[in-house]
Amino acid sequence: MNKQDIVNHLLGKKNKKSAIKFAEAFAPANIALCKYWGKRNLELNLPYQSSLSISLGNKGAHTSISISDEKRDRIYVNGKLIDETCNFAQRVIAYINLFRKKQSIYYKIQTRINIPIAAGVASSACGFAALIRALDQLHDWKLDDKSLSILARLGSGSACRSLWHGFVIWQRGATTDGMDSYAAPLLVQWNDLCIGLLVLSKKQKKLSSRLAMQRTVVTSPNYSCWLKKVNQDFQIIYDAVLNKNFQQLGQSTESNAVTLHTIMQTADPPIVYSLPETLRYIQKIIQLRATGLEIYFTQDAGPNLKLLFLKKDTENVKKHFPNIEVIEPFKILYC
Ligand code: PMV
Repeated sequence: MNKQDIVNHLLGKKNKKSAIKFAEAFAPANIALCKYWGKRNLELNLPYQSSLSISLGNKGAHTSISISDEKRDRIYVNGKLIDETCNFAQRVIAYINLFRKKQSIYYKIQTRINIPIAAGVASSACGFAALIRALDQLHDWKLDDKSLSILARLGSGSACRSLWHGFVIWQRGATTDGMDSYAAPLLVQWNDLCIGLLVLSKKQKKLSSRLAMQRTVVTSPNYSCWLKKVNQDFQIIYDAVLNKNFQQLGQSTESNAVTLHTIMQTADPPIVYSLPETLRYIQKIIQLRATGLEIYFTQDAGPNLKLLFLKKDTENVKKHFPNIEVIEPFKILYC
């Protein structure tokens, strides 16, 4: 099955003309605590292993969509019209083409993203998740959560986890069509848990996570070690979340990220997302921990760091990292 077959299968006869003229949706950015790195199917974004993430509250993508009178799609990001020949626009257009069938519908899509774009802070994940939610509303498909997650995955793998707040698990699945590879929320509310965003560079990354993943899978002699490691980490991180064991969560999350970046460096040519700044901050975090401050970090496909700590340490963390943006992922659930 290819992407189009999956969309046709999930939408069935639902693809009627839009009932309403305008829809909007929000999807939070998500940070993987146990990371997805490597696709067993490149087209369908099917992962080799399961992953577990935490969503970033009100940090994410707010997308509105309407039917355009012009005979072309118009995509705006943070108020700016995107040139339709650029990679990003091409990716979005290829995605919405999957849902157009033979109808000559064109869309005006306006997205506001309140995190750095393409800098390893999961902007594409929340972008595609908000887009599929908005499309679903516009066309009144009323898709269930599983279908929405599968369809978000077709845009960007980690987008399948960006449909919910809180902790989310993406089960890798085993079938070749990926109908069993989708995410669902893990219903644990951990009010004391904080995430700190340490944005060290807002520059767009030169190497996409898609290409970097594939290079790691194909050329790293250590990729099988990653698979073994991530399977162990998944269980430990899952247990830590269920038991609200912060030390276990922090240690395993950090170890998972460090292993990932070490293994990326063994790809050919090596993949290095860290900047000198990243290493400097990692050293600082390790030193502060040695003095008793319980903080841990994780890092995705970019130089920026995300810190994990408990609410009681917020002031202390801010003192040591004045530029940090503190997120309380669970606040949104009760405000
Ligand atoms: O879904 P992508 O292609 O943006 O890849 C996400 C990769 C990581 O952020 C590094 C890990 C993850 O699980 O989110």
